[in-house]
Amino acid sequence: SELLELAEKMPKAELHLHIEGSLEPELVFKLAKRNNVRLNYASVDELKAAYSFNNLQEFLDVYYAGMSVLLTEDDFYDLTWAYLKRVHEDRVVHVEIFFDPQAHLERGVPLSIQLAGIHGALEAGKATLGISYRLILSFLRHLSEESALETLQLARPYLNQLDGFGLDSSEKGHPPEKFARVFAECKKLGKPITVHAGEEGPPEYVWQALDQLEVDRIDHGNRALEDDALVQRLVATGQTLTVCPLSNLKLCVVDSMQDHPLVTMLEKGLKATVNSDDPAYFGGYMMDNYRAVIDQLPLTREHLHQLARNAFAGSWLSEADKKKHL
Ligand code: ADE
Ligand code: ZN
Repeated sequence: SELLELAEKMPKAELHLHIEGSLEPELVFKLAKRNNVRLNYASVDELKAAYSFNNLQEFLDVYYAGMSVLLTEDDFYDLTWAYLKRVHEDRVVHVEIFFDPQAHLERGVPLSIQLAGIHGALEAGKATLGISYRLILSFLRHLSEESALETLQLARPYLNQLDGFGLDSSEKGHPPEKFARVFAECKKLGKPITVHAGEEGPPEYVWQALDQLEVDRIDHGNRALEDDALVQRLVATGQTLTVCPLSNLKLCVVDSMQDHPLVTMLEKGLKATVNSDDPAYFGGYMMDNYRAVIDQLPLTREHLHQLARNAFAGSWLSEADKKKHL
């Protein structure tokens, strides 16, 4: 369709992508073999069969098991390079990606190894594919404040390779305020922050992200729609929401794509963007997400332009670089 062609040809930015969530089943098996890691799945098909989730936690259990094959610098490089090559086909020209260092530190993989692979591939992608990037260290909210503070200490020698900080993993029971002191430290470093809030958790968690963490973006934010005063606040301050349609469908945040609030968000003046979250697990990359919402929602040309603009405007590019895209 005409809308699909527009979505394909627009230069796009992806602001919500967990690099470990781009680990395709085929690469899981290749790396398992390379590293002599035993998997609890006999084949790619058996692994894929496990990709059926009723909620966030059921997904996270499979996600952390999948990433257990990531051990060497090459593994992190190959993972990141495969993602960049794939989204280049979708005309993604800027990416702001998360990684979960604590999940790899737990397996004994030093931060230096993780970063050498991820950052090396990001630099190669910039040089050969022309994809600009920001790299976001994301803390795991199911772990303690102490663990997050230790991780931040470990990150201090590498701050030149870290462009911001995030918060992900099991949302319910782990409100943003649990990490108020951690993110105050991040702010002191002069880095932007973004936290997952209102995916499964209540509007209260979005308020906390704004008032207690002073975030620069909200990841997901779906449940903000339950609170009119919160919507007003997000609109008035121009907060960017990094929305993930296929993720929301696969994690049962919405019952069907027809029920997805993306258009409602735009109509209310919220700065929503389209992102893939964990594309290897949720059925697709950037264009698969656009295709799904174009097929199932009453999107217009203006909405598509708005979505693309919102992503560049809400990115952490310099004002000069944003202007080139807006
Ligand atoms: N980690 C990876 N994907 C996530 C998501 N959608 N929500 C919370 N934590 C995550
Ligand atoms: Zn996410």
